[in-house]
Amino acid sequence: MQRYAQKLHQFIRSFLLLSVITATGAQAAEKIDLIIDTDPGADDVVALLFALASPDELNIRALTTVAGNVRLDKTSRNARLAREWAGREDVPVYAGAPKPLMRTPIYAENIHGKEGLSGVTVHEPKKGLAEGNAVNYLIDTLKKAKPHSITIAMLGPQTNLALALIQEPEIVQGIKEVVIMGGAHFNGGNITPVAEFNLFADPQAAEVVLKSGVKLTYLPLDVTHKILTSDARLKQIAALNNNASKIVGDILNEYIKGDMEHYGIPGGPVHDATVVAYLLKPELFTGRSVNVVVDSREGPTFGQTIVDWYDGLKAPKNAFWVENGDAQGFFDLLTERLKRLK
Ligand code: RIB
Ligand code: CA
Repeated sequence: MQRYAQKLHQFIRSFLLLSVITATGAQAAEKIDLIIDTDPGADDVVALLFALASPDELNIRALTTVAGNVRLDKTSRNARLAREWAGREDVPVYAGAPKPLMRTPIYAENIHGKEGLSGVTVHEPKKGLAEGNAVNYLIDTLKKAKPHSITIAMLGPQTNLALALIQEPEIVQGIKEVVIMGGAHFNGGNITPVAEFNLFADPQAAEVVLKSGVKLTYLPLDVTHKILTSDARLKQIAALNNNASKIVGDILNEYIKGDMEHYGIPGGPVHDATVVAYLLKPELFTGRSVNVVVDSREGPTFGQTIVDWYDGLKAPKNAFWVENGDAQGFFDLLTERLKRLK
């Protein structure tokens, strides 16, 4: 009888031990080692606040800035502003490429405002830029990184990563995956009938990144135009009644006007923030692996992403193309994270 009692005691102990290990293991999902490359930009700033409010899941190594919506000096200032508003001055900001690889620079001040940040008054943030250029930072970091350990979120033209890949192709060893806001297939373009701004602003850079063979996920207009603000969703954010929600509300109320008018839609997309939601809760989104090519020839299809959605060409699948998302789930997650900020 005593032997049976001992066996039962041992079984209960190991069962309890196993359930504790499983429970903590499930909670402590591995953090994402993340670099965010960005051209703030109204929706970039919303994405940055979203990401900087999520330290449990995202270990943000740095923000790297690029010219895009506005000139580099302004995108870099705006990234430092987002960092200050999020209370995350621990995250370094490196300035990168001041212009695209080959094409003449274009900007989107008509959408994002002269300062690149619609709806709010900007100021010179207290903390400055980190020493050194973003491209060198990417090279040094990705060369030294553990194999396939670092995720890169790309919220603007892909110039910085393209320059790093051209200079040191072996940096692919450090890249886990690149998650890109950009491109358009079913939706059509937002800067030409077929091209989305980030790709149109530097298609050659996007080609370099595509050809590098790194694991790519695209969040194109096909999905961002299905995740739109509404009065209720903006009220949900405003009801947080903290500084971050006030800033986001002021930015979005101004930023969405352009798209609502242009497309005649009841709300506006928050393009770049969908990348952060995808990193935090990929289950909110659906898509498929496809073959994508970028058109960098001068002409009416310059900057177009050509997506073989039905695999007609049987070409290699070089990207995961996200084409749908849970809009309310996105805004609930964004609101819940903004609530954590001051
Ligand atoms: O087309 C939308 C994209 O272009 C977003 O990243 C926005 O910030 C602009 O850069
Ligand atoms: Ca952007």
